[in-house]
Amino acid sequence: MIPEEKVREVAERLSIVEVVSEYVPLRRAGANFLGLCPFHAEKTPSFNVSPAREIFHCFGCGAGGNAFSFVMKIEGISFPEAVKLLARKAGIEIEERQLTPAERKTQDEYSQFLRINDLTASYYRSVLINGQEGEPARQYLANRSVDPAVSEAYRLGFAPDRRDGLVKHLKNNGVELDTALKLGIVRKSDTGWYDLFRNRLIFPIRDARGQVIAFAGRVLDTSLPKYINSPESPLYHKSSVLFGLDMALPSIRTGNSVIIVEGYFDHLALYQAGVQNVVATCGTALTGTHAGLIKRHAERVYTLFDSDGAGKKATIRSMELFLEQRIPAYVISLPAGDDPDSFLATHSKEEFAELRDKARPAFEYFVRALLTETSPDSVDNKVRIIDDIVPRFRKIADSVERDLYEKEICRLLGITVHAFRKRMGGDRISPHDAPVPQQSLTQKGNNVQDTLLALFINYPDARAEIVRGGLETIFSDAYLDVARLLLNSLTDSDNSLILRQMTEILENVEQKMLFSRIMVSDGYLADIEWRAVFDQCTRSHEKKQVATIKDIASRLAVLDPDSDEYALLLKQADSLRTRKSKL
Ligand code: GTP
Ligand code: MN
Repeated sequence: MIPEEKVREVAERLSIVEVVSEYVPLRRAGANFLGLCPFHAEKTPSFNVSPAREIFHCFGCGAGGNAFSFVMKIEGISFPEAVKLLARKAGIEIEERQLTPAERKTQDEYSQFLRINDLTASYYRSVLINGQEGEPARQYLANRSVDPAVSEAYRLGFAPDRRDGLVKHLKNNGVELDTALKLGIVRKSDTGWYDLFRNRLIFPIRDARGQVIAFAGRVLDTSLPKYINSPESPLYHKSSVLFGLDMALPSIRTGNSVIIVEGYFDHLALYQAGVQNVVATCGTALTGTHAGLIKRHAERVYTLFDSDGAGKKATIRSMELFLEQRIPAYVISLPAGDDPDSFLATHSKEEFAELRDKARPAFEYFVRALLTETSPDSVDNKVRIIDDIVPRFRKIADSVERDLYEKEICRLLGITVHAFRKRMGGDRISPHDAPVPQQSLTQKGNNVQDTLLALFINYPDARAEIVRGGLETIFSDAYLDVARLLLNSLTDSDNSLILRQMTEILENVEQKMLFSRIMVSDGYLADIEWRAVFDQCTRSHEKKQVATIKDIASRLAVLDPDSDEYALLLKQADSLRTRKSKL
């Protein structure tokens, strides 16, 4: 632990301009210094450093912070490491605070773990490189055309076909086997200690800093299981580790994008081909933690999964995670039957780049996949497809993107935008999704139901009239909920106190937004002839419903006239027509 005073001393001693200049050429521009952002690719400088405020900010990618955050980001290191690095630069000596006995024990064990993993990786590496025992693995790597330099970069190794090769190696190096046991790489039985990995090619799994935290071992033949991984341990949580991140960081930083693959060998094939902004999951599905990690390092993500059914599922699942984290995601599609490894065995880096440039937005990929699975040739199917789309559509953060997808979806399904929106509004909206309804709800005063609800609140006679006609013929969705809650509370005299307390009674964010919006914008309804406004509103409300006759007609056209659904729709159309004629 570094004492807080020391951190401040380092910060005071160094100027951010000095720190940043070591990585980025800066020139003065007014009160600030300006340079090309090291965190995203740009041709004109938008990276600003303010010596007065001791902060940096990039108007291109939004990166920003102080000297410590700059060093953390550019070196890929933790806060204490950044402080130490800058302290060295400033000539400040850092004495870490005395650890408590418990802290010391954890830290000791932690460095033990790292030492054991490092010894283990070296051991497997030396078996692979030297001596007779490594021959089958060397042969295997040669058959798969793995360059020696790449093998070195991954620190590939080989676990010999022996019961306790690693056990002996660790013992000889003075390792407590009980500590190694916690990493799962050695085990204990009645007859003694033995190795987890035997006769397997070893991929060390490293964290972002390059420290070995776990291992994966692949068989050299077709036997099963193809891979085993060392188990979860204090160092290794597979749902939050991306294999190859340490090797990929420099390349991710320059291009600001990252490619995700599912296999160790897929990672290796891309890396060897010179595509180095690649990470892989370690034999698990992508998680929200992975997505968060990716968001920390890149602005855009490509998924590159197998072209089979499992790969498609994984692609769609990952799309949802990226929508939630608001990271633009694209899908690179390989020719049927290929995986990244096999593709690169027969194609050049340039051909791969072409595929990457043709990558489609993940959401578009999802909609198309859905349409291949279920053909939109019946009303039932269309409804099923829309219901699959709607919850994901709601997660699209960007309004321009949403508009485009809405049009595209409607075109592909042969439905009207109106019909799609109706389906969107049909389900309950939970407070954390739904940028769409939130946006339309915050638009002011253009909504008939807004006005009707305002009349309902402000004019007891209007309220009575609405209740007579039935709340649900006037209001729908959140409006109906709010009207019902209000009806229980409002009186025919002064309601100001009740209205003030109302937000506490309302049940969700949508209701609260709707209510407060009306409360701040209903001034235009003071002292008016409520009846005139009311009539005008109900007329336009019903006209809107009439518009749906067209929708019904188009649905009828594709239905079997003998079906129940046909009869039901026909009835709806009839009653709408009757109402229209009364208007
Ligand atoms: P190659 O088949 O040698 O090209 O390896 P690969 O890394 O491309 O593997 P594959 O495409 O078959 O599988 C993708 C990933 O799933 C692997 O890298 C592993 O992380 C994981 N995986 C595959 N098979 C197994 C298995 O039997 N057990 C475990 N735990 N994970 C596996
Ligand atoms: Mn493979």
